[in-house]
Amino acid sequence: MFLDHFNVNPTLFNIFCTCTTVWLIKYLFNFINRIRKLPPGPWGLPFVGYLPFIKKDAYIQMTELAKKYGPVFSFKCGQCDVVVINEVKAIEEAFKNNYLLARPNTTFLPGHNPSFVEMSGEPWKQQRRVALTILRNVGLGKSTLEEKIKEEIGFFIDSLKQSKSKEVDFSELSGLSVANNVSILLFGHRFEYDDPIGIEMQRNMKLVSDNVEYFSKFMFMPSLFFFVSLAAKFSSGLKKVTSNQKKLEEKITEEVTKHKEKKATHEIEDYIDGYLQEMDKHKDSKTSFNIETLRRNTADFYAAGSGTTTNTLSFMMLYLITYPEYQRKIRDEIKQTIGFERQPDYEDRNSMPFTMAFIYESLRISTITPLNVHRRASRDTKVMNYLIPKDTLVILNFWAVHRDPNLWNDPHSFKPERFLSDDGTQVIKSPYLMPFSGGKRSCPGVTLALIELFLYLVSIVQNFQVLAPEGDKISDEVNYIFFRMLKKPVKLTHFHSLKD
Ligand code: HEM
Repeated sequence: MFLDHFNVNPTLFNIFCTCTTVWLIKYLFNFINRIRKLPPGPWGLPFVGYLPFIKKDAYIQMTELAKKYGPVFSFKCGQCDVVVINEVKAIEEAFKNNYLLARPNTTFLPGHNPSFVEMSGEPWKQQRRVALTILRNVGLGKSTLEEKIKEEIGFFIDSLKQSKSKEVDFSELSGLSVANNVSILLFGHRFEYDDPIGIEMQRNMKLVSDNVEYFSKFMFMPSLFFFVSLAAKFSSGLKKVTSNQKKLEEKITEEVTKHKEKKATHEIEDYIDGYLQEMDKHKDSKTSFNIETLRRNTADFYAAGSGTTTNTLSFMMLYLITYPEYQRKIRDEIKQTIGFERQPDYEDRNSMPFTMAFIYESLRISTITPLNVHRRASRDTKVMNYLIPKDTLVILNFWAVHRDPNLWNDPHSFKPERFLSDDGTQVIKSPYLMPFSGGKRSCPGVTLALIELFLYLVSIVQNFQVLAPEGDKISDEVNYIFFRMLKKPVKLTHFHSLKD
């Protein structure tokens, strides 16, 4: 009767009903199977899972969920199963697990080829190995690079001293300066602070990192990729990301072209040179070494190597202003070890335990990467006896470790002394401090970052008294998108030079 009324072909109707029933049974079977295998966790909605319930400060939410569901919990997020690991022993076990080195199958930027930061398996291994070999050969971790960083810091300090305005936007100038240290490794040269190309690259990079969300719909709902061009029209954030990334990569393309024009016989001076030579070696075989990957790798190295360190330095300025007594202690160590005439060397850190403790405590309390860059299980594996099925996305929650009251006394307070021996003469680096992640996929820029943090901090305190502008209410409020960043950029008052 019903079918007659709507004039529906009964055979077609039967096929439709059978298909729907089969699909529903399969969906239910997968659902139950999943629940059985995965660690416990919160429920979500059909199809979108827990994604709509993710809050702005997701790392705090994950830490709270761990209190309810246990140190390793799971949830469905969009189309992906996610496992979050929140406890130090479980994270250490995950660092050692070779099946947890892959990244998600989707890229952070929809529609782009993956850079090595986003690659998995053999291509990632090759790209990372070659990148680190080239960067080491051109100076990473060597005294030649330290000399160049010191030269860069010299320009930076001079520029602060010459600043005529009453207030200095610290992150803007330090961003340009820190990016120059990475530019030397990647392009073989620095940019003057008023060079429009350097300024534009920093701006593009910042607009990208300010708009790539950790729980991005495009990563967790990969089917949305099909509608990416449509979505880009409606999502201003996504539009900003794709257009600024494109502009950044255009600048890198110009650098690559200039490098190609150099004489073929010249020696390897930077990452682009080394990569072009590597491409030449592989030109007759099918590998992941190609111009597109070079462009993507360079853009990601530039972003990963400048935004993170600048951001940490901004937090450090905030702590210097908030705790003048600690600023005085660092200055006292400078007085005893280096004096006010000679530029600091990284070696000086061995006689400056308090300064190193201040850096470690800044890294712990700011935890700019509270949730690790997403990993993926490349096959069924286990952490702490919890099963993690193949292709599950795995999140390591460093925030939970850095604020764990079982590991740190009074974890929410800024106390550099916690990294010092009882008599204050030795710095003790805790194994629970993991801002650079760990294991085979940990941050390859850790040495560069630590050299920079030490040399910039000491040079600043050696030359200036760091103060906020008069009447300016300093704030430690943060924005979290992919990184934790201070909501209000740190403004410093016209620096009072200590030598005046
Ligand atoms: C304070 C500064 C920095 C912090 C806190 C930081 C933190 C991190 C973290 C947490 C990861 C994720 C690792 C993982 O998946 O387990 C990472 C990856 C990475 N970092 Fe850093 N980083 C910093 C500075 C740098 C610098 C200076 C460079 C460049 C020279 C750099 C280049 C990279 C790259 C290329 C990756 C991806 C590695 C891969 O996927 O194999 N980082 N970083």
